[in-house]
Amino acid sequence: MKTRITELFGIRYPIIQGGMHFVGFAELAAAVSNAGGLGIITGLTQRTPEDLAREIARCRAMTDKPFGVNLTFLPAVKPPDYPGYVKAIVEGGVKIVETAGNNPQKWLPALQEAGIKVIHKCTSVRHALKAESIGCDAVSVDGFECGGHPGEDDIPNFILLPRAAEELKIPFVASGGMADGRSLVAALALGAEGMNMGTRFMATKEAPIHQNVKDALVAASELDTRLVMRPLRNTERVLNNAATERLLEKEKALGAAVTFNDILGEVAGVYPRIMQQGEMDAGVWSCGMVAGLIRDVPTCAELIERIMAEARALITKRLPGMVI
Ligand SMILES: Cc1cc2nc3c(=O)[nH]c(=O)nc-3n(C[C@H](O)[C@H](O)[C@H](O)COP(=O)(O)O)c2cc1C
Repeated sequence: MKTRITELFGIRYPIIQGGMHFVGFAELAAAVSNAGGLGIITGLTQRTPEDLAREIARCRAMTDKPFGVNLTFLPAVKPPDYPGYVKAIVEGGVKIVETAGNNPQKWLPALQEAGIKVIHKCTSVRHALKAESIGCDAVSVDGFECGGHPGEDDIPNFILLPRAAEELKIPFVASGGMADGRSLVAALALGAEGMNMGTRFMATKEAPIHQNVKDALVAASELDTRLVMRPLRNTERVLNNAATERLLEKEKALGAAVTFNDILGEVAGVYPRIMQQGEMDAGVWSCGMVAGLIRDVPTCAELIERIMAEARALITKRLPGMVI
């Protein structure tokens, strides 16, 4: 398939695996890239820039295809060593960066001078336009359905994507709720040039996470996610579990007075316990509504080939048959 996104990133299929904390290691990124999509290593999951440099080298040893690194900019008491991470990316010869969170403007010159293409993930048309105006090469438009941080506007992709198409000149991919060939064709119809998936890629053989997490995704329905941290304006869509219920109880009891400290136990440092040890109630973890469409744990190549076969059949058979 040829779209502005496949051309921009030099990939076979317009399918991107979004950065995921404690999921996006070299194994997954390489598997997605080897299957013709764009795999992405999650920068901040690596404790130091030196660790990220090693992870990039590991990924390069597993694939000769393009892959990217996610850099998430979040407000933090003690900010990560962003200059160090950027240096590791540039020196590691990575040519694609997915930025997310705060405005990435400060980091664009260093990245783009090194020939790196930047795709910024954002949850509103105004942030997408901002990304375009500061010189990002593409955007990933993340609808309200998405796993992780959907922002505070609550606009689902059926509205958000055509709105983005009306306003943007740079290419964009649809993110949030994407799972299969239907998602891809719908995304293209709504004006996107490809799709970004998070939750769906967790339920793959190569995702280096505990089997309990994959089983939970297969078992979950579209009704099983919850929004936490709304009162803190740091909304996150997570799978419902005992920790989610504890957190929501605290939010209810404390109302507008709730602070980050009150919920620390459910959110801080829980990812390694969940993703690596498989302690499913250790804390809250990001998960999209798309869990309702996940019924198996294929390899990344099986998943991507299936998506492309479905998309081709929709485009060449089902849709033309409707035009009279
Ligand atoms: C477990 C998990 C962890 C995530 N961690 C990050 C992250 O660290 N940085 C980021 O930019 N996005 C993160 N995301 C968001 C994904 O990159 C992607 O935008 C989102 O999952 C798309 O929605 P979907 O899950 O419906 O496919 C995460 C998502 C999940 C499910």
